[in-house]
Amino acid sequence: MPGNILITGASSGLGEGMAREFAARGNNLALCARRTERLDQLRDELLQAHPSLTISVRSLDVNNHDQVFEVFRAFRDEFGILDRFIVNAGIGKGQPLGTGRFDANRQTAETNFVSALAQMEAAMEILRQQGRGQLVVVSSVTAVRGMPKNVTTYAATKAGLAALAEGLRVELKKSHSPIRVTTLYPGYIRTAINEKVENAPFIVDTKTGCHAMVKAIESEKPEVYVPRWPWTPISFLLKRLPVPVLSRLF
Ligand SMILES: NC(=O)c1ccc[n+]([C@@H]2O[C@H](COP(=O)([O-])OP(=O)(O)OC[C@H]3O[C@@H](n4cnc5c(N)ncnc54)[C@H](OP(=O)(O)O)[C@@H]3O)[C@@H](O)[C@H]2O)c1
Repeated sequence: MPGNILITGASSGLGEGMAREFAARGNNLALCARRTERLDQLRDELLQAHPSLTISVRSLDVNNHDQVFEVFRAFRDEFGILDRFIVNAGIGKGQPLGTGRFDANRQTAETNFVSALAQMEAAMEILRQQGRGQLVVVSSVTAVRGMPKNVTTYAATKAGLAALAEGLRVELKKSHSPIRVTTLYPGYIRTAINEKVENAPFIVDTKTGCHAMVKAIESEKPEVYVPRWPWTPISFLLKRLPVPVLSRLF
């Protein structure tokens, strides 16, 4: 059923693509990111195609944690109820550990993990008050195992994010809460984050990837690899391969 959906990192790539998909399915949208001129353009485009929807945009730097709480609460006040929160904002920086680029790895760790935690806190506060709704976190297939070189820190942040979501699922199940928590593990989907990656295996275009993500969110399943094929069987295998085999693959 259509509802009110908040998406962080909606100014490009997967966030923008999911906004398009959700709008086409009749959902009202609360969109945030730092590049507000891109959000304004997206809002105008979506309202032209779907004039009956409410599309609201706000500036948000997720590394400003006070602002995360302020923006989420302001959207809640504006919409009344928020049915889905999609914690999507993220960066793909990173260098091998011990090569003098702690700055890049720290930035990735802060944006993808600490700031995602802030978004989950702000979302859960509202979901607990409402007593219903869905929290979605955008992890990554790289979360299923430790990854080498430039991806080490990124993969660790995405594993941490998946662990936070699973912890919440355990807690909510125990209290019979109707709040749903979904972890998405996307494989390679072409966006700005991987524009320089030449040989990304099984990569799909943004529209195909975002269609799969929205279907997975609407299924409200706890964990979904997207697109399901081939990432479900690949992840199953990756989880089980011994380190010597992994080190030959990557
Ligand atoms: N594409 C893939 O293959 C893939 C695979 C697995 C997981 N993911 C995950 O999917 C998510 C979206 O990535 P993408 O592929 O769509 O990349 P993208 O096109 O680079 O988009 C990243 C989004 O995150 C936002 N963002 C980054 N830092 C932010 C900050 N400090 N405050 C607020 N917003 C911030 C950006 O908005 P502003 O710059 O305007 O703030 C942008 O909208 C990320 O979490 C990424 O790790 C992507």
